[in-house]
Amino acid sequence: MDRRPVVAGNWKMHGSRAENTRLIDSLLEGVEAPRAEVLVCPPFPYLAEVVRAVKGSPVQVGAQSLCAESQGAFTGEVAGAMLRDVGCSHVIVGHSERRALYAEDDALVARKFLAAQAAGLVPVLCVGETLEERERGATAEVILRQLDAVIAVAGVQAFARSLLAYEPVWAIGTGKTASPAQAQEVHAMLRARITEKDAILGGQLRILYGGSVKASNAAELFAQPDVDGGLVGGASLQAEEFLRVVAAA
Ligand code: PGA
Repeated sequence: MDRRPVVAGNWKMHGSRAENTRLIDSLLEGVEAPRAEVLVCPPFPYLAEVVRAVKGSPVQVGAQSLCAESQGAFTGEVAGAMLRDVGCSHVIVGHSERRALYAEDDALVARKFLAAQAAGLVPVLCVGETLEERERGATAEVILRQLDAVIAVAGVQAFARSLLAYEPVWAIGTGKTASPAQAQEVHAMLRARITEKDAILGGQLRILYGGSVKASNAAELFAQPDVDGGLVGGASLQAEEFLRVVAAA
Protein backbone atom coordinates (compact mmCIF):
# COMPACT_ATOMS: atom_id res chain seq x y z
CA MET A 1 0.00 0.00 0.00
CA ASP A 2 1.59 3.25 -1.06
CA ARG A 3 0.99 5.88 1.58
CA ARG A 4 2.53 9.24 0.79
CA PRO A 5 4.48 10.30 3.87
CA VAL A 6 3.65 13.54 5.65
CA VAL A 7 6.08 15.77 7.51
CA ALA A 8 4.37 18.41 9.65
CA GLY A 9 6.18 21.16 11.53
CA ASN A 10 4.56 22.17 14.80
CA TRP A 11 6.02 25.57 15.62
CA LYS A 12 4.20 25.70 18.97
CA MET A 13 4.38 29.18 20.53
CA HIS A 14 7.49 30.29 18.67
CA GLY A 15 8.24 32.78 15.93
CA SER A 16 7.73 36.36 14.89
CA ARG A 17 6.89 37.89 11.53
CA ALA A 18 10.59 38.43 10.84
CA GLU A 19 11.63 34.94 11.95
CA ASN A 20 8.79 33.31 10.06
CA THR A 21 9.77 35.10 6.87
CA ARG A 22 13.34 33.85 7.17
CA LEU A 23 12.20 30.32 7.96
CA ILE A 24 9.66 30.15 5.13
CA ASP A 25 12.06 31.69 2.60
CA SER A 26 14.68 29.06 3.40
CA LEU A 27 12.11 26.28 3.37
CA LEU A 28 10.80 27.28 -0.03
CA GLU A 29 14.30 27.35 -1.46
CA GLY A 30 14.87 23.74 -0.44
CA VAL A 31 11.50 22.10 -0.79
CA GLU A 32 10.94 21.64 -4.52
CA ALA A 33 8.87 18.57 -5.40
CA PRO A 34 9.22 16.70 -2.11
CA ARG A 35 8.15 13.05 -1.98
CA ALA A 36 6.41 13.81 1.30
CA GLU A 37 3.49 16.11 1.92
CA VAL A 38 4.88 19.08 3.84
CA LEU A 39 2.91 21.05 6.38
CA VAL A 40 3.78 23.89 8.75
CA CYS A 41 1.68 24.84 11.77
CA PRO A 42 2.41 28.40 12.98
CA PRO A 43 0.64 30.19 15.85
CA PHE A 44 -2.78 31.71 15.02
CA PRO A 45 -1.76 35.33 14.34
CA TYR A 46 0.69 34.29 11.62
CA LEU A 47 -1.48 31.82 9.74
CA ALA A 48 -2.80 34.14 7.03
CA GLU A 49 0.61 35.62 6.34
CA VAL A 50 2.27 32.20 6.15
CA VAL A 51 -0.50 30.97 3.83
CA ARG A 52 0.30 33.88 1.49
CA ALA A 53 4.02 33.22 1.71
CA VAL A 54 3.77 29.54 0.71
CA LYS A 55 1.18 30.05 -2.04
CA GLY A 56 2.12 28.17 -5.20
CA SER A 57 4.59 25.96 -3.30
CA PRO A 58 4.08 22.39 -2.09
CA VAL A 59 3.95 23.59 1.54
CA GLN A 60 0.55 23.47 3.25
CA VAL A 61 -0.47 25.30 6.40
CA GLY A 62 -2.21 23.97 9.49
CA ALA A 63 -3.25 25.42 12.82
CA GLN A 64 -2.26 24.01 16.20
CA SER A 65 -5.74 23.89 17.72
CA LEU A 66 -9.32 25.06 17.18
CA CYS A 67 -12.53 25.60 19.10
CA ALA A 68 -15.04 22.75 19.30
CA GLU A 69 -17.85 25.26 18.65
CA SER A 70 -18.51 26.67 15.20
CA GLN A 71 -19.12 30.31 16.17
CA GLY A 72 -20.55 32.55 18.86
CA ALA A 73 -19.77 33.88 22.31
CA PHE A 74 -16.51 32.03 22.99
CA THR A 75 -14.07 34.82 23.79
CA GLY A 76 -10.51 34.02 22.83
CA GLU A 77 -11.37 30.98 20.73
CA VAL A 78 -10.83 30.36 17.01
CA ALA A 79 -13.32 28.44 14.87
CA GLY A 80 -12.44 25.86 12.24
CA ALA A 81 -14.27 27.87 9.57
CA MET A 82 -12.00 30.83 10.31
CA LEU A 83 -8.92 28.67 9.87
CA ARG A 84 -10.30 27.41 6.58
CA ASP A 85 -11.19 30.97 5.59
CA VAL A 86 -7.57 32.12 5.92
CA GLY A 87 -6.31 29.15 3.92
CA CYS A 88 -5.44 26.42 6.41
CA SER A 89 -5.83 22.85 5.23
CA HIS A 90 -5.07 21.01 8.48
CA VAL A 91 -5.35 21.42 12.23
CA ILE A 92 -3.66 19.57 15.09
CA VAL A 93 -6.18 18.11 17.55
CA GLY A 94 -5.46 16.58 20.94
CA HIS A 95 -1.80 17.52 21.20
CA SER A 96 -0.49 16.34 24.57
CA GLU A 97 0.27 19.93 25.59
CA ARG A 98 -3.39 20.80 25.05
CA ARG A 99 -4.47 17.71 26.95
CA ALA A 100 -2.08 18.29 29.87
CA LEU A 101 -1.94 22.09 30.17
CA TYR A 102 -5.40 23.10 28.96
CA ALA A 103 -7.44 20.23 30.36
CA GLU A 104 -8.59 18.88 27.01
CA ASP A 105 -10.06 15.46 27.72
CA ASP A 106 -10.92 12.70 25.26
CA ALA A 107 -14.49 13.97 24.87
CA LEU A 108 -13.40 17.52 24.03
CA VAL A 109 -10.73 16.24 21.64
CA ALA A 110 -13.41 14.20 19.85
CA ARG A 111 -15.62 17.29 19.52
CA LYS A 112 -12.70 19.29 18.13
CA PHE A 113 -12.00 16.51 15.64
CA LEU A 114 -15.60 16.74 14.43
CA ALA A 115 -15.46 20.54 14.30
CA ALA A 116 -12.31 20.38 12.19
CA GLN A 117 -13.88 18.04 9.65
CA ALA A 118 -17.11 20.01 9.60
CA ALA A 119 -15.05 23.04 8.59
CA GLY A 120 -13.29 21.11 5.82
CA LEU A 121 -9.99 20.81 7.66
CA VAL A 122 -7.94 17.63 7.95
CA PRO A 123 -7.45 16.90 11.65
CA VAL A 124 -4.07 15.62 12.79
CA LEU A 125 -5.22 13.63 15.81
CA CYS A 126 -2.49 13.17 18.42
CA VAL A 127 -2.37 10.32 20.90
CA GLY A 128 0.36 9.29 23.30
CA GLU A 129 1.18 7.98 26.74
CA THR A 130 3.15 9.62 29.57
CA LEU A 131 6.31 8.08 31.00
CA GLU A 132 4.40 6.92 34.06
CA GLU A 133 1.79 5.22 31.86
CA ARG A 134 4.48 3.50 29.79
CA GLU A 135 6.33 2.30 32.86
CA ARG A 136 3.26 0.67 34.33
CA GLY A 137 2.50 -1.06 31.06
CA ALA A 138 -0.52 1.06 30.15
CA THR A 139 0.67 2.33 26.74
CA ALA A 140 -1.76 0.28 24.65
CA GLU A 141 -4.68 1.02 26.93
CA VAL A 142 -4.05 4.78 26.84
CA ILE A 143 -3.46 5.26 23.13
CA LEU A 144 -6.37 3.00 22.15
CA ARG A 145 -8.67 4.78 24.62
CA GLN A 146 -7.70 8.12 23.06
CA LEU A 147 -8.31 6.77 19.56
CA ASP A 148 -11.55 4.97 20.47
CA ALA A 149 -12.99 8.16 21.97
CA VAL A 150 -12.79 9.78 18.54
CA ILE A 151 -13.99 6.71 16.64
CA ALA A 152 -17.02 6.52 18.96
CA VAL A 153 -18.09 10.05 18.10
CA ALA A 154 -16.90 10.50 14.52
CA GLY A 155 -17.08 6.93 13.21
CA VAL A 156 -14.19 5.05 11.70
CA GLN A 157 -14.95 6.40 8.21
CA ALA A 158 -13.93 9.85 9.40
CA PHE A 159 -10.35 8.59 9.38
CA ALA A 160 -10.42 8.62 5.59
CA ARG A 161 -10.02 12.40 5.95
CA SER A 162 -7.69 12.51 8.91
CA LEU A 163 -4.10 11.97 9.93
CA LEU A 164 -3.09 10.25 13.14
CA ALA A 165 0.04 11.07 15.13
CA TYR A 166 1.64 8.98 17.85
CA GLU A 167 3.45 11.30 20.21
CA PRO A 168 4.75 9.65 23.37
CA VAL A 169 4.62 12.46 25.93
CA TRP A 170 8.00 11.44 27.39
CA ALA A 171 9.64 12.03 24.00
CA ILE A 172 8.25 15.50 23.31
CA GLY A 173 10.82 18.26 23.61
CA THR A 174 12.98 16.03 25.81
CA GLY A 175 15.55 14.92 23.27
CA LYS A 176 14.45 11.33 24.07
CA THR A 177 13.07 9.69 20.98
CA ALA A 178 11.11 6.46 20.94
CA SER A 179 13.29 3.81 19.37
CA PRO A 180 12.17 2.84 15.89
CA ALA A 181 10.94 -0.48 17.34
CA GLN A 182 8.95 1.26 20.10
CA ALA A 183 7.35 3.60 17.57
CA GLN A 184 6.56 0.75 15.19
CA GLU A 185 4.95 -1.31 17.95
CA VAL A 186 2.49 1.47 18.83
CA HIS A 187 1.86 2.50 15.22
CA ALA A 188 0.98 -1.11 14.41
CA MET A 189 -1.50 -1.20 17.32
CA LEU A 190 -3.15 2.00 16.14
CA ARG A 191 -3.39 0.76 12.58
CA ALA A 192 -4.76 -2.59 13.73
CA ARG A 193 -7.54 -0.79 15.61
CA ILE A 194 -8.66 0.97 12.43
CA THR A 195 -8.12 -2.14 10.30
CA GLU A 196 -10.33 -4.29 12.50
CA LYS A 197 -13.21 -1.91 11.67
CA ASP A 198 -12.26 -1.18 8.05
CA ALA A 199 -9.38 -3.03 6.44
CA ILE A 200 -9.00 -0.71 3.45
CA LEU A 201 -8.98 2.38 5.61
CA GLY A 202 -6.50 0.78 7.97
CA GLY A 203 -4.17 0.19 5.06
CA GLN A 204 -4.48 3.77 3.86
CA LEU A 205 -4.30 5.74 7.11
CA ARG A 206 -1.12 7.73 7.55
CA ILE A 207 0.27 7.61 11.07
CA LEU A 208 2.98 10.13 11.93
CA TYR A 209 5.48 9.78 14.72
CA GLY A 210 6.29 12.80 16.89
CA GLY A 211 8.66 13.35 19.78
CA SER A 212 12.19 14.70 19.29
CA VAL A 213 12.26 13.87 15.58
CA LYS A 214 15.34 15.39 13.97
CA ALA A 215 17.49 14.93 10.90
CA SER A 216 19.72 12.38 12.63
CA ASN A 217 16.91 9.99 13.67
CA ALA A 218 14.19 10.61 11.06
CA ALA A 219 15.32 8.08 8.46
CA GLU A 220 15.30 5.07 10.79
CA LEU A 221 11.93 6.06 12.28
CA PHE A 222 10.36 6.64 8.86
CA ALA A 223 11.76 3.33 7.63
CA GLN A 224 9.38 1.46 9.95
CA PRO A 225 6.50 -0.11 8.01
CA ASP A 226 3.74 1.69 9.94
CA VAL A 227 5.45 5.07 10.36
CA ASP A 228 4.30 7.41 7.59
CA GLY A 229 6.21 10.55 8.45
CA GLY A 230 6.57 12.85 11.41
CA LEU A 231 5.12 15.63 13.50
CA VAL A 232 8.17 17.73 14.25
CA GLY A 233 8.42 20.37 16.96
CA GLY A 234 11.81 21.83 17.81
CA ALA A 235 13.49 20.68 14.62
CA SER A 236 10.86 22.42 12.48
CA LEU A 237 12.09 25.83 13.59
CA GLN A 238 15.33 25.49 11.65
CA ALA A 239 14.85 25.31 7.89
CA GLU A 240 17.89 23.20 7.14
CA GLU A 241 17.10 20.65 9.86
CA PHE A 242 13.43 20.47 8.87
CA LEU A 243 14.33 20.03 5.20
CA ARG A 244 16.58 17.12 6.12
CA VAL A 245 13.67 15.52 7.98
CA VAL A 246 11.48 16.07 4.90
CA ALA A 247 14.17 14.49 2.72
CA ALA A 248 14.26 11.45 5.04
CA ALA A 249 10.55 10.79 4.47
P1 PGA B 1 9.38 17.92 19.54
O1 PGA B 1 7.80 18.20 19.56
O2 PGA B 1 9.74 17.50 18.14
O3 PGA B 1 10.01 19.23 19.89
O4 PGA B 1 9.67 16.84 20.53
C1 PGA B 1 6.92 17.40 18.83
C2 PGA B 1 5.49 17.83 19.07
O5 PGA B 1 5.15 18.16 20.22
O6 PGA B 1 4.66 17.85 18.15
